[in-house]
Amino acid sequence: QQVEPFDYVIFGATGDLTMRKLLPALYNRLRLGQIPDDACIIGAARTELSREAYVARAREALERFLPSDVLSPGLVDRFLARLDYVTLDSSRESTQWDSLTSLLAKAQPDRVRVFYFATAPQLYGSICENLHRYGLITPSSRVVLEKPIGTDMATATAINDGVGQYFPEKQIYRIDHYLGKETVQNVLALRFANPLINAAWSAEHIESVQITAAETVGVEGRAAYYDTSGALRDMIQNHLLQVLCLVAMEAPDSLEADAVRNAKLAVLNALRPMTEASVATETVRAQYTAGVVGGENVPGYLEELGTPSATETYAAVRAWVDTPRWKNVPFYIRTAKRSARKVSEIVVTFRPAATTMFGATPASNRLVLRIQPNEGVELRLNVKNPALDVFNLHTADLDTSIRMEGGMPFPDSYERLLLDAVRGDPVLFIRRDEVEAAWRWAEPILDAWKHNKVSMQTYSAGSYGPDQATRLLAEHNDTWHEASE
Ligand code: BG6
Repeated sequence: QQVEPFDYVIFGATGDLTMRKLLPALYNRLRLGQIPDDACIIGAARTELSREAYVARAREALERFLPSDVLSPGLVDRFLARLDYVTLDSSRESTQWDSLTSLLAKAQPDRVRVFYFATAPQLYGSICENLHRYGLITPSSRVVLEKPIGTDMATATAINDGVGQYFPEKQIYRIDHYLGKETVQNVLALRFANPLINAAWSAEHIESVQITAAETVGVEGRAAYYDTSGALRDMIQNHLLQVLCLVAMEAPDSLEADAVRNAKLAVLNALRPMTEASVATETVRAQYTAGVVGGENVPGYLEELGTPSATETYAAVRAWVDTPRWKNVPFYIRTAKRSARKVSEIVVTFRPAATTMFGATPASNRLVLRIQPNEGVELRLNVKNPALDVFNLHTADLDTSIRMEGGMPFPDSYERLLLDAVRGDPVLFIRRDEVEAAWRWAEPILDAWKHNKVSMQTYSAGSYGPDQATRLLAEHNDTWHEASE
């Protein structure tokens, strides 16, 4: 369905995110007929470029980051015709703003205007100040904020205050691309549309939950950013806590933005606070050393960086949600760069059947929700082993792939989110209080790590992670689920 006409202003328009994700996502939506012909996408960045030069870069990006079968010359030209570019140091007051002002002045005053910030987050406040100074904020304006919203509570508060001075909360869209993933949204469908699953969704039946996001890539030329961030800030404070919220939340009254966000916030607020003592027993941090990934030798993190660093490329945490539903159920969260394979999944292990009739205790039922790749749901059941006359159990997996109609690949998570901002639907965006609650939980971990209360482990690139992470689960007689199991 087509959205209404809009002006999309992307700050940081020459950056990696814009080229790799934002422009390809918008192109795909144009291809699907969702972008009206009079929509306008305006790139803004400091690099001096003519419109033609920017369009040439955008064309290259589409060719590089999209499969050739979606690129038809006619559509690419139609998309590129929507693009404009202004050279602008958006954090400063200057006459450079005139070009943006005059481009936007052509539009009807009530036309949707989206300002997408894909720049350094510490600039968000001053860009907003300038948008205000030059009279560019209209009642139909929205601002989309890329992560990271800060590196701790104080910096997050400064960013949120800076933006909040000029935009009311309902016009602020904090993007978390994990919420744009189909299989992440599917957690809600699986839980609340299937009484079979919903009825078993509590500590009474569930023994543990694992949430994993592992990648084979290293820091991919983003070392300058990554080394100031690390795995906990880069993946856990935002993406994986959001996934945890969807797994653990109580049923919202509706799929309205605030109903869902209130339910997520309640989970974040129920996370057992971390203390220096609990960080020592509940967390693992590690860096990869040289190893082999996908048959290729790759250097260790420190060698790649060329300097000493105390930044973790692997983090595992045992978290607890202190609500009656989740009493004493560990939530294991882990993320890794240079892991054995790329996989994001949720693994729910149920309590084993309390029966002695089969002799040995039956295996636990296990529900695996594969977020990516090979999106799907897998349920491990006990069945009678048909090969034997004696009554003996073995396990069988019900495995269903979640596919797009016609076997098409899943749309990139940015596609839907970019247009949700135009539609004015914030349900898949993060509210300020969620960001703050997530930092409140994460900050003691970062503090304890900074003060070396937990020693840095190592793992070889291409492995599943450090031994300490295995031990974290062994303490509860549990093991990490590896995709090949
Ligand atoms: C980003 C992180 O938010 O998510 C990256 O900054 C990470 O470091 C990426 O690679 C992972 O996203 P996905 O969609 O590939 O799981």
